[in-house]
Amino acid sequence: MKTLSVLGSTGAIGVQALDVARLHGMKIIALAARSDVNKLAEQVEEFRPRYACIFNEEKAEELYKKIAGTGTEILTGMDGLCKAASLDSADLILNGVVGTVGLRPTLAAIEAGKDLALANKEALVSGGEIVIEAVKRKGISLYPVDSEHSAIFQCLQGSRKEDLKKILLTASGGPFFGKKLEEMKDVTVDQALAHPTWKMGKKITVDSATLMNKGLEFIEAMRLFGVTADKIEIVIHRESVIHSAVEFNDGAVIAQLGVPDMRIPIQYALTYPERLESPTKPLSLADYGKLTFYKPDFTQFPCITSALRAAEYGGAAPAIVSGADEVAVELFLDKKIPFTAIGDAVSSALENIHTSSFQSAEDAIEAVEAAHEYVKELYGKGKLSW
Ligand SMILES: NC(=O)c1ccc[n+]([C@@H]2O[C@H](COP(=O)([O-])OP(=O)(O)OC[C@H]3O[C@@H](n4cnc5c(N)ncnc54)[C@H](OP(=O)(O)O)[C@@H]3O)[C@@H](O)[C@H]2O)c1
Repeated sequence: MKTLSVLGSTGAIGVQALDVARLHGMKIIALAARSDVNKLAEQVEEFRPRYACIFNEEKAEELYKKIAGTGTEILTGMDGLCKAASLDSADLILNGVVGTVGLRPTLAAIEAGKDLALANKEALVSGGEIVIEAVKRKGISLYPVDSEHSAIFQCLQGSRKEDLKKILLTASGGPFFGKKLEEMKDVTVDQALAHPTWKMGKKITVDSATLMNKGLEFIEAMRLFGVTADKIEIVIHRESVIHSAVEFNDGAVIAQLGVPDMRIPIQYALTYPERLESPTKPLSLADYGKLTFYKPDFTQFPCITSALRAAEYGGAAPAIVSGADEVAVELFLDKKIPFTAIGDAVSSALENIHTSSFQSAEDAIEAVEAAHEYVKELYGKGKLSW
């Protein structure tokens, strides 16, 4: 069994990854979280990792008291997170951190030659080709955790890249599927957090409601599978049973199906190429009775239209939309801006931030930071209010 380092262990992905690790007796060498000392301490108690990283340094003392006697060494800050991402004794790093903060540990893992199970889509969107080039240069394996990308990865097993005609990226459509932008003005935080099929962290749940998540996934698919935008078609599929599909040149379409439970793609990423027993419910197609599909209409969802435009622009544009989105989502969750202002912030950032070069990780981080500052400024000037 592999030895894992789990970044973002206290979040939705991290907790489910630890379920899988527990089930199969995987060893945990490091756990990392931002500030949830209680949950992290419980996990340390159970898994006894060599390292526990708490990103917020001011929480280290509290963690120290809670895990005294376990022998686990505490790491903090970005250095600690990058160390947890690049430990010699780890076979695989699971990056389940949320947000563009996941870019540095992603690159640290790759540079250390570690195989990576990547849930943190923002790292791949903002780092773009820089991440993919590093993966190729170091020859590491990058396993997708996102259910759609895991599905595509599974559908492509045993096929030749030149035979792929297109990727069919499925989308649940989120809780506001079919609504007009005008009707979404007064959407509350609770409404935005009520996803029809998946239980996830807050940021990705809001991203699913604005459809930003599908835009980020579109860019993620371009990066992971080395395809251009015209080779990806988004299909609305409300039931989230078909997690995505691929079409080959001969017209054959292969899809991957399963109950909507992230432990399936997480486990596949952690145990690839093995397919071990899973604690999830089996899929009963007869219980579903029918599966539905629609052509998407994105005219009412400015986040995804900006993300798709960013995919075409390339360079720093994906980093800008991703960075702008994360600050706007935080402002919305803090009830400081309306739901529809998230889209305003993202499109304004995309059109107004200009960066000169996009060659290195530092350029990607600069683009993200410029987007953060831009949205904070928009908010400060009252341009995102009701
Ligand atoms: N949830 C899903 O079903 C799902 C599906 C596909 C893809 N993803 C992707 O997976 C990632 C995680 O999503 P999630 O739903 O698990 O989010 P989440 O529930 O909000 O969890 C985020 C995790 O990241 C940690 N974290 C945040 N900032 C950190 C930092 N600076 N240093 C160390 N740890 C940090 C959090 O720690 P604290 O708890 O201490 O804040 C928490 O453990 C996202 O990129 C998301 O898009 C999620």
